[in-house]
Amino acid sequence: MKYFADHDQELYVENVPLSRIAEQFGTPCFVYSRAALTTAFHDYDEAFGAYPHLICYAAKANSNIAVLDILARLGSGFDIVSGGELKRVLAAGGDPKKVVFSGVGKTGAELREALSANIMCFNVESESEMRRLASIAGDMRRVAPISIRVNPDVDARTHPYISTGLRRNKFGVGFEDALRLYQQASTMPGLRVNGIDCHIGSQLTDLAPMQDAARKVVALADQLADEGIVVEHIDFGGGLGIRYTDETPPARAQFISMLLSVMGKRGHRIMIEPGRSLVGNAGVLLTRVQYLKHGQEKNFVIIDAAMNDLMRPALYDAHHEIRPVQRNSAAQATVYDVVGPVCETGDFLGKDRLLATSEGDLLAVMSAGAYAMSMSSNYNTRPRAAEVLVDGSTVHLVRARERVEDLYAGETRLP
Ligand code: LLP
Repeated sequence: MKYFADHDQELYVENVPLSRIAEQFGTPCFVYSRAALTTAFHDYDEAFGAYPHLICYAAKANSNIAVLDILARLGSGFDIVSGGELKRVLAAGGDPKKVVFSGVGKTGAELREALSANIMCFNVESESEMRRLASIAGDMRRVAPISIRVNPDVDARTHPYISTGLRRNKFGVGFEDALRLYQQASTMPGLRVNGIDCHIGSQLTDLAPMQDAARKVVALADQLADEGIVVEHIDFGGGLGIRYTDETPPARAQFISMLLSVMGKRGHRIMIEPGRSLVGNAGVLLTRVQYLKHGQEKNFVIIDAAMNDLMRPALYDAHHEIRPVQRNSAAQATVYDVVGPVCETGDFLGKDRLLATSEGDLLAVMSAGAYAMSMSSNYNTRPRAAEVLVDGSTVHLVRARERVEDLYAGETRLP
C-alpha cells in the first residue's frame, strides 16, 4: 500500500501527513487516495489489452460523488443496486449507457427511472422481475436491455454473509432455469436480451471458484447461441478480494487473464463489476485515541470512531490493520482491544492489537475505502464522519462531517 506509507516516522497519504488532515478536518475522518484509486482502475483496464470490455464499478462499495467522478473520468461504468445509486452516478457525471442495474428487489419506480435514464442493461434476478420489467417497458413504449443473473452454484469460499453464488442464496436464477427464462425473454416485446450476468460473492481470495463460475457461464452462452439466442456481453460480476492483513488474493491482472482464457476466441464483450478491489485499499479511517483503559483481563484503547463508522468488524468479524499515525516512543507497547464509544459489546474495530499509543494520539484503520462509509449509520446519534480525498499534495474535503441537527431535521414532535 505505497500510497499510505511512513515517512520520518509519520504516516502519509500520498504527499500529505495524516496528522495535518486530522488537524484541518477533525476525526473521525475517511481519507482516500486518488492515485491508489486510479492505479487500481488502470490495472484492470490495461489487463484487458485490446479485448472489448467494460469495467462497471460497484457503487455500493463507496458511493461518494468524488470517487464516482474520478472513475467516470477514467471511463468506468457503474453497477448500481438502487434508484439512489442511479441518481448519484448521474449526479457524478457517470454515463447511463455504461450503467448496469443489479439487485433482487428493484421496485417498479426504480425500473421506470432506470428505463427513462436509458441505462445499458438490467441484470434481472427472477422470473417475476422479468415480467414486471417487460410490462413497465411496454407501458413506457421502450425496450429494456437485459441480462439474466444466473446462479452458478459454486462455493466462493468466503464469509457466508457475502457469499452469493450458492443455490441456497437469494441471488440470481437457478442455472437449470436459465435457458427457459432466456427463451421466454427473447419472445417478450418489452425486452431485448443483451447479456449474461453472474456474481458469486465478495472478498474472494482464490481464483478457482471464480474460474468454475466463469466456465459455467460461458458454457451457457454457447448453449444459448445453439438455441439461436445471441448475447453481446458476459458480465462476470465483482468479488476479487484485497489484502487486509495476510490474505494473498490473485492480482487484478491475473483475474482478468483467467477470464480472457476462459473466453478463448469467443469475442463477447467482457464486463466486470469490481467494488472492493478498486477502492478498498485506497482509503483509511482516521481516528483519535480518547482514553486508555486498563482492566483486569483486557486493556482498551477507546477511539472516537465506532461501529457506526465501520461496521465490518462487528458484522463479519473482519480484520482491519490499525496503525499509529505518528510514532510514540514514550508509550509502552501493550495489547489492546480498540473500541468505540457506542453502547454495544460488538463495537470494536480491532481485538488484541499490540500498540504503543497514548491518549490524544491518532490511529489509522487501514483498508477502509470499501464498505466502510457506505455502510455507516447514525446509531447513537453520531454524525457521519467527514470524507477527504488526497490528490498528490492537494487535500479536498469531499463530504462535510454531518451536523447533529441534520440527523433529526426530518423528524417532528406531536402537535
Ligand atoms: N456486483 C454485485 C451484483 C454485487 O452484489 C457486489 C457486491 C459487487 C458486484 C461488488 O463486489 P466486490 O467487488 O466489492 O466484492 N459489505 C460486504 C461486501 C458486500 C458485497 C455485496 N455485493 C463487506 O464489507 O465485506
